[in-house]
Amino acid sequence: MREKRVILTGDRPTGKLHIGHYLGSLLNRLQFQKEHTSYFIIADLHMLTTSPEMSKEVAKNCEAILLDYLSVGIDPEKARIFRQSRITEIPYLACIFSNFVTVPRASRIPSLKDMMQSLHITHPSMGLLSYPILQSADILIVKADLVPVGKDQKSHIELTREIAREFNTLYKPIFPEPEPLIGEVETLVGIDGKNKMSKSLGNCIYLSDSEKEVNDKVKVMFTDPEKVHVDDPGHPETCPVFIYHKAFSQDHARVEEARIDCKKGTLGCGTHKEELAQILNTFLNPIREKRRVLENQKESLRDILRIGEEEVKKKAVQTLDETLTTMKIKTRGII
Ligand code: TRP
Repeated sequence: MREKRVILTGDRPTGKLHIGHYLGSLLNRLQFQKEHTSYFIIADLHMLTTSPEMSKEVAKNCEAILLDYLSVGIDPEKARIFRQSRITEIPYLACIFSNFVTVPRASRIPSLKDMMQSLHITHPSMGLLSYPILQSADILIVKADLVPVGKDQKSHIELTREIAREFNTLYKPIFPEPEPLIGEVETLVGIDGKNKMSKSLGNCIYLSDSEKEVNDKVKVMFTDPEKVHVDDPGHPETCPVFIYHKAFSQDHARVEEARIDCKKGTLGCGTHKEELAQILNTFLNPIREKRRVLENQKESLRDILRIGEEEVKKKAVQTLDETLTTMKIKTRGII
């Protein structure tokens, strides 16, 4: 048995999750929850850092993401799921941590520029600038020592380690220096075949898509532009139809056969798409079924969050108390 670790990872509730999220992170989480103490955060305060006007969408999006988590098999008996906004000790800790990060250091985080560019933000808010500080507080409030993230988030974990190190050196070592665990899965290409799958680009297949939605999306999927006629040789490695087929099929021999037939020009894109739609629907059917049951159990959804949040809250109160005591802001004296 490997060493049991404390894992924290999560998502901003920007909307429903897609099959790229499944491959890139959810699948790993199903494994983590079996082996480690796992916390999955729905980072709703982080959503405000780019779009505070979206606050009215937050509650709805939290529900959507909770349903996504549960329907793919995240098990609330094993992992704790919680909303960031319900643990008020997190922004409190972030407030303390912000004193350990200089403005030039925060400004150098590469994801800041990326977010500003992609969202056309010319003047970042203080919230956006301190995004990684809030994330550090998410991680250190439960003293997580392993943080699975995409490679775009690596610099945030590096900052978390710096904050922990600096705090531990200045006072005494109470925080772990968490390790990032960077996903090895390539980001999944969208159905447009040009960009990575992303909600803002409208090129996603969602975990909550119906059979008809999947069929319709697969039908219009981009394929190898050099394969004009059915019997032209194709380039499966760069064709999203083949990429999804390989990622979601259980039948490896058939995947290999499709690769060869596509290359030879004996497998047409239309036929391959029909096969893919079926594979995706077979993969999604149990997820849909679970979602359908859960959707009607609002009470147990609430309970799942309540239980997760109560447990994290307990730990958060402890960590914050320890932090303030270590800093001697809180003493055993009268005041
Ligand atoms: N910033 C992460 C993202 O956009 C989401 C997130 C918030 C997170 N807090 C976290 C991830 C803590 C890992 C650990 O994907």
